[in-house]
Amino acid sequence: MRRPSYDMNVFRERRAALASRYPGAAFVLPAHPEQIRNNDVNHAYRQDTNLFYLTGFEEPGSVLVFRPGQDPESTLFVRPKDSFNETWYGFRYGVEGALSEFGVDHALVIDDFEREIVNLLRSCDRLFYHWNLDPQFDRDMLSVLEAVRSSSYRSGGGHLPVFDSAEAIGELRLFKSEHDIRILRRACEISANAHIEAMRFAKPGVNERQVMATLIHSFYMQGAVREGYLPIVAAGSNATTLHYIFNDQTCKDGDLLLIDAGAEFGYFAGDITRTFPVSGKFTEPQRRIYEPLLEIQKALVQMVRPGIRYRSLHEASVDAITELCLDLGLLKGTKRQNIDSQAYQKYYPHGVSHWLGMDVHDVGRMIVDDQPRLLEPGMALTIEPGLYVPVNDLSAPEELRGLGIRIEDDVVVTATGCENLTETCPKEIDDLEKELCTPSSWRGPT
Ligand code: GLY
Ligand code: MN
Ligand code: MN
Repeated sequence: MRRPSYDMNVFRERRAALASRYPGAAFVLPAHPEQIRNNDVNHAYRQDTNLFYLTGFEEPGSVLVFRPGQDPESTLFVRPKDSFNETWYGFRYGVEGALSEFGVDHALVIDDFEREIVNLLRSCDRLFYHWNLDPQFDRDMLSVLEAVRSSSYRSGGGHLPVFDSAEAIGELRLFKSEHDIRILRRACEISANAHIEAMRFAKPGVNERQVMATLIHSFYMQGAVREGYLPIVAAGSNATTLHYIFNDQTCKDGDLLLIDAGAEFGYFAGDITRTFPVSGKFTEPQRRIYEPLLEIQKALVQMVRPGIRYRSLHEASVDAITELCLDLGLLKGTKRQNIDSQAYQKYYPHGVSHWLGMDVHDVGRMIVDDQPRLLEPGMALTIEPGLYVPVNDLSAPEELRGLGIRIEDDVVVTATGCENLTETCPKEIDDLEKELCTPSSWRGPT
């Protein structure tokens, strides 16, 4: 029997926390749909985050039915043991393994789902389910709701009310436990080390793709399970494309290189952006943007503490970056006019932060009771101001055209402020120039 590499108490505690909030309800959480095998080769599979969060179970073709306060409380439907499929595609826990290794109350084969689910839902007063992840499963759930309605046990003839499971579980996932923070810290540490390797590797003449290979090699060598997302490795004016993913151009002398990349470790993801000169020395126009933007980024990190409104971070970034755009001659008029008209969005079109966790853009409401959310200890978020001057922006000073800079760190809110989980990744100009980008440290192809 394979042994899962995760501590099952973690998942039991998470289920208990969910149970205490939703007595009488039922959660139905299907596995992430299996990837289509393309010409009989496999592609990476990642479990649905919410199913993993509550079980640690990583196989496709499974469903968790969780009924707080009922017996059985947790029922895991799994693929059966099958020697043919296990010979071709690998080990399955089966019903026995699901019970012995994952600590659920009850396990059944997935083929029994249709027969058993109505019995399991009949005694529940509402259903938590997230539509639109798997169209086939959605259709099955519509039939299930109809079957529950028409069963004699549900008086009044109505369907079970359905609430969004992703939102309910998202509110739990938003608050990271000590255990979660330990794993996230490691994901961030791996990501930071990989950025340093990429900085040391980059030099004029290397391809963005080779830099990406350096990052990914470093992630895996340090024990990451996968990339948290496709890295952005953007040289020169490619950095002004926010979600640049081609990563296939040559890094040139005089270019800045923007790298946005993070590793996934234990289902938690790091998310770091650094921007540095390919040749190891910032030019004067590059410094003119980088220096003040770094000060803005550091001031935003300093702002993070319990009790401030999450939204205030973005508002502060808009204020400071609009002022910077005026100083740089990118915008004209007053700060107020440029903010009110949203003219600043030409150079700063994205938000300054998102929640971070098991998904890179993690879950959790940003507005609560119609009010912007207050930060609380245990929330993890990014701080990522940027400034991007389109290469064809004839209204911008010529020497600034085509520059794209973003600086992104990952922080977790503590009782008194925040812990910067990515502070080992250099971002000061001196550190970038002296230690990482000098010819003596170049290790790339010649
Ligand atoms: N890497 C995605 C983001 O920064 O939001
Ligand atoms: Mn981010
Ligand atoms: Mn990022």
